[in-house]
Parts: sequence; C-alpha cells; structure tokens
Amino acid sequence: MGSTTDTNTIDQPGDGAKEAPLLSPPNDTDKAASERATDGDSAATGDDPDPDRSKNRHSTSSASGSLHSQPTSILMPAEVPREPTGSTIIEPDSVFDDSGRSFHGYKEGKYFLPNDAAEQDRLDLQHAMLMMATGGKLAHAPMDHDPEYVMDVATGTGIWAIQFGTLAPTTALSQIRIAQEHPGSHVIGTDLSKIQPALPMVQNCEFVKDDAEEEWLYRTPETGTEKMLFDYVHLRMVFTCFPDNLVVMRHAFDNMRPGGWIEYCDLYIDPLSRTGRHEGSTVQKFWATFRKGMSKIGRDMLCPRNYKTWLAEVGFVDIQEQIHRCPLADWPSDPARKRLGQYALVNLTEGARGFSWKALGFAGLSADEKENLIAELRRDAGDPSLEIFHPVYVVYARKPHDWEVEQKTQAQAARDC
Ligand SMILES: C[S@@+](CC[C@H](N)C(=O)[O-])C[C@H]1O[C@@H](n2cnc3c(N)ncnc32)[C@H](O)[C@@H]1O
Repeated sequence: MGSTTDTNTIDQPGDGAKEAPLLSPPNDTDKAASERATDGDSAATGDDPDPDRSKNRHSTSSASGSLHSQPTSILMPAEVPREPTGSTIIEPDSVFDDSGRSFHGYKEGKYFLPNDAAEQDRLDLQHAMLMMATGGKLAHAPMDHDPEYVMDVATGTGIWAIQFGTLAPTTALSQIRIAQEHPGSHVIGTDLSKIQPALPMVQNCEFVKDDAEEEWLYRTPETGTEKMLFDYVHLRMVFTCFPDNLVVMRHAFDNMRPGGWIEYCDLYIDPLSRTGRHEGSTVQKFWATFRKGMSKIGRDMLCPRNYKTWLAEVGFVDIQEQIHRCPLADWPSDPARKRLGQYALVNLTEGARGFSWKALGFAGLSADEKENLIAELRRDAGDPSLEIFHPVYVVYARKPHDWEVEQKTQAQAARDC
C-alpha cells in the first residue's frame, strides 16, 4: 500500500522560476513549504427542484433580512449591478449586510463571502484562473475511469461540477453540449447557497442546498435507500469555509468507496515574491489583516499547508501535494503566465470588497478603514515590480481498500509482538 506523502513542485515558464530562490516563506512556521513552492446561464430560475433533504434543512431567514424586503436606503456598491458574464441565479432567502452585498440565508452566518451577481461572476473568473494555474485540468488525482459518484463540496456557481460532469472545460456554458468530460459520472454539487443553474443540458449533475459539515445523507438513485458512496470528492477554494476541516474530511472518508479519491485545490493567501519586494506591500498588509480577522473567529486561512497531514490522520493513503504558483499582475514574461496574472489581479481587486468585508471587520477595522484599505489595494496590487505570486495547493489522496487496512493492521500487530 502506498501510504507515503509526496510534494511535487511544478515549474512554469516566464516568471523567473529557475533564476532565483524564494526569498521568504509562506509563513513563519512553514519555511519548508516556501522552499517547495514553485510555479507552479442560465436565467434566474424559478423552478428549483430542491431535493427533500435540502428543503428540510432550509432555514427561514428573517423577513427583515430577505431579498424582497431589502431596505431601500442601502446603497449598492459599484461592483454589484455590473453585468455578469453569465446571468445570475438569485437566491431568494439571501440576507444583506452593511456592505450592501447579499449572503446565504440558509444557516445564516456560517460563511462570510457574498452570493450575489458580482460574487458569482468572480467565482467563474476564479475557476478560469485556477484552471490556468494548475495545468488546465479539472482533476489531478490519477483516476483511470469515470468515477461513478462524484461530490463537489461547496460548489459555488457549480461551474466545476458542470464541466466535470457534462461539458468539456473549454466549452462555454451557453453552448450546446459538444463533448462529455465524464459521461459515466453522476455529479452532486452541494452549497449553502442555491446559486447553480438548472439547465436541461446538465444531465448528470445535480445541486443540493446542504451543509457539508453535517452528516452526509446521500442515497443511490437506484434504490433510494442505499448509501451513496463517492468515488471522487472534490473541494476547491474551501479554505475560508470550515472552522474544522477534519470534520468535512471525515464525512468524505465515511462516504467514499474504498479506492476512491479526494482532492483539494486551494489558494495560499500569504503572498510571496522571488525578489522580496512583496515585503511591506499593500497586498501583504491586506492579506495579513484578512487572516487576522478570520483567526479571530477561529479560522486558519493558511490551512491548505495542513491538508496532507490531516488526510493521513483521517486514514487516506497515496497522498500527493502539488504546489503551483499563481502570479499576481502582468509581470511574467510568458504570455500565458501574464494572462493568468491579469486574471488574478481582477479576481483580487474587483472581488476584495465583497470577500473581505466581514473578515476585515472581525479584524477590528471600521467601515471607513475597510474602504481605505481596499482602495489602497486596488491602487497598488497591479504594480509589476513587486513580482508577487500566491502558491496554489493541489492535494489528493486515496481511500484504502479494506484489504489494505487489514494488511496494515496485521503488520502493525506483528511489529508490536
Ligand atoms: C469560494 S467559494 C468556492 C466555490 C467553488 N468550490 C469553486 O471553486 O468555484 C466557497 C463556497 O463554499 C460554500 N460553503 C461555505 N461553507 C459551506 C458549508 N458548510 N457547506 C456547504 N457549502 C459551503 C459557499 O456558499 C461558497 O459558495
């Protein structure tokens, strides 16, 4: 049984990967990680076939906070009314905060990023960014056939789930299906916000409003009673989501078929540069304040560095960690890397007000201080002389077969004799 864990570093052209060593680590306590780090529409739909379970768990948000009773005095921030690239799925039980952005109403207060048009637009841009940053692949785990049951935990707009299940990654959502990425798979995407499309073309993909931290209660469509065991569980950009990542990892383990794969893909929000010029930058200050705010409510925003240790603790084997690198701004010389940097810059500067508003508040900033920091970030983040990049962690692991667990137990018993 391959129970070792490996870290692979992924070199990329055009951003000086070979020329200079990394100057500073992702954080004080994990210098090793820095040494490893390299380059790495639908119309708003009224017919929402929510499965029973999600209806049962559906919270009734207070009328004062609902979309329909939004106080007219709220000024919409500039980024919200812009035309998104696709149309927006409006979540009817969303609630607003003082930033003028809307958030999930089901289990209100669990998650701190918005769910409105601008955020949905950002998530789809971020999907393109992460695809580019990690080699253009939807999945990295070495699966030699279509996994039968696939779970996309915290699916967001569902863009990954739809592309994995039905559409080839290069296919626009609005086009007729021209290729199937994994026609033999049945994909379930879960989220606290029901902001995913229900297109007729999405044949082998369904979305459920659900809390991934709760018991997973999925049943096979054939019997309706038999527990659905997933062959592949995918989690992307979830580092902001869970107070205890091990809870979700254990749910995944308990609901996976032996031999199945779990995969994480997450951004590491401690910026780096090869020149050291990121030190003291606004980008560094912004993320430090963001992390401080989230740590005040018990969330470690640098948790991706722990995924491989936690996966081993839960019982997964064959753990692989890849650390890719995503440039910020258009400083790389390679055209593809330059484009990636531009995507990352838009993701950060356009998204910042929405995704950081609550976290900066937890850090103690007043509304004015938040606005000022975000304005500073928008002004400074694109400076190409900083040559900033963010590590992107891809970590995948396999659930062992029963005979492997047995062998391991016997070997251990023999050693203990
Ligand atoms: C940053 S988005 C990532 C979306 C998607 N995975 C992607 O990469 O495009 C995080 C998502 O996690 C969802 N989320 C947060 N906490 C959750 C929970 N406890 N259970 C299910 N979804 C959750 C949020 O509603 C949000 O849509």
